[in-house]
Parts: sequence; C-alpha cells; structure tokens
Amino acid sequence: LPPGPVHRPLAGRRALVTSGPTHEPIDPVRYIANRSSGKQGHAIAAALARLGASVTLVTGPTREPDPPGCTVHPVETAREMLAACEAALPADVAVCAAAVADWRVADAAERKLKKEGGGPPSLVLVENPDILATLSQPGARRPALVIGFAAETGDVLAYATAKRARKGCDWIVANDVSPGTGTFGGSENTVHLIRADGAESWPTMGKDAVAARLAEAIAGHFA
Ligand code: CTP
Ligand code: CA
Repeated sequence: LPPGPVHRPLAGRRALVTSGPTHEPIDPVRYIANRSSGKQGHAIAAALARLGASVTLVTGPTREPDPPGCTVHPVETAREMLAACEAALPADVAVCAAAVADWRVADAAERKLKKEGGGPPSLVLVENPDILATLSQPGARRPALVIGFAAETGDVLAYATAKRARKGCDWIVANDVSPGTGTFGGSENTVHLIRADGAESWPTMGKDAVAARLAEAIAGHFA
C-alpha cells in the first residue's frame, strides 16, 4: 500500500508529558506510592508523537514500554519529576497525567528500618511540590497550553472545575475513579474535558482513544 496522507499537525511543536506514579522512599527498600499504571500518560505521549510533536515523557516507575518516538526520562520521586520537567522546558504544551504522591516522608532513613527497637516507626509526611501548579505559573517559560488530570470520586465535575482554577492550568481532563469504574490499571476511561468555557463529556473509550482525541484537541488548539 502507498503511504496514506500524512497528518502531522503538531510538527514543530514541543510537548512535555508526565506519567505514572511517583515512589517516595521511606528507607532504602520501602516506599509510598499509588495505583497509577501509566497507561493513560504513556498513550498521550505516543499520540502527540504520532501527530508530529517532539515529545519528552517524564515518567515514574511503570510496566509500560517506552512510547515510540518519545524522549523518555524515568524518575522515582515527585521532586525528581519536577526537576526533569523544568529541564525539559520550553514546551508548547504540557500534559500532567502523572499520579504524583501528594506526600513524602520528611526524613527518609538512610538505613533499612528494623523491627527491633520498640514498636512500629511513625512516619512524618511533608507535602510534595505540585508539578502541574508550578508549570502553570505565569512567566516566560510557561507552556502556552497546560493540561492537568483530575481523578475524582463523587461530584467529579465540580471537584475538577475547582481544581482547574486552583492549579491555574488551561484544561483539566477529569475522570471518575470510584471503585467499580475500572479506571485504575484498566484500559478504558470515561472522561470530561474541562476548559474555560465549560465541560465536554466523552463516551467511555479505550485509553488509547482518549489519548488520540486529546492529541487532536491539542492540535486544534494550535491550528
Ligand atoms: N499533580 C502534580 N503534582 C502534584 C500533585 C498533582 O503535578 N504534586 C497534578 C497531577 O498530575 C494531575 C493534577 O495535578 O494532573 C491533579 O492531581 P490530583 O491528585 O487530582 O490533585 P491534588 O491537587 O493533589 O488534589 P487531591 O487532594 O484531590 O489529590
Ligand atoms: Ca493528589
């Protein structure tokens, strides 16, 4: 077959994508993390690359293969993720799909914690930097389009609309992660795209299809 018509509307654009969980060390062998699989973030990176963007993917530990055509920076912690994102700027668009751990252990132990010595340890937690809010701050290096995710339970649209304002990002992709929806680790996703002018609800579809549709919306924004 001859090659089909090339559709590369994002050629010449730079994209930054975060994906996966972060791992926050407790000691050299233990960490705090969450259930993010990285499927949606990796699919978005691949979809943006397919549309011609030059994509940097900053990802926490996942089982996903590196998406074709992307520069991949593996990280463990939220602080490493932020540093890798800042190093990847400038970018035209940033998509923060990572499930960043909200807290880290204040003073991770340099040696393995042992049971002997009187009862379980107490962990003092401190808040991690907010990568999406940092990238959204006004300034010369702010990507023209900053997109966040909001994994919510309950009143998904209300929480996500408030989150968009709080973070200062342009768009929020909101999804319902209540038990039974199968979103975490599953291959399907039911999302709402929230922009300044309101919310658009998409039908349930595969994470690859969500990624492709989001990449097309991004291309439309820059057209
Ligand atoms: N995010 C981020 N850095 C953080 C926390 C969150 O970049 N330290 C990004 C996520 O990648 C996502 C968006 O912010 O795009 C929303 O994440 P979420 O966990 O829903 O927001 P939080 O502000 O942490 O609120 P919550 O208390 O609901 O967890
Ligand atoms: Ca959070």
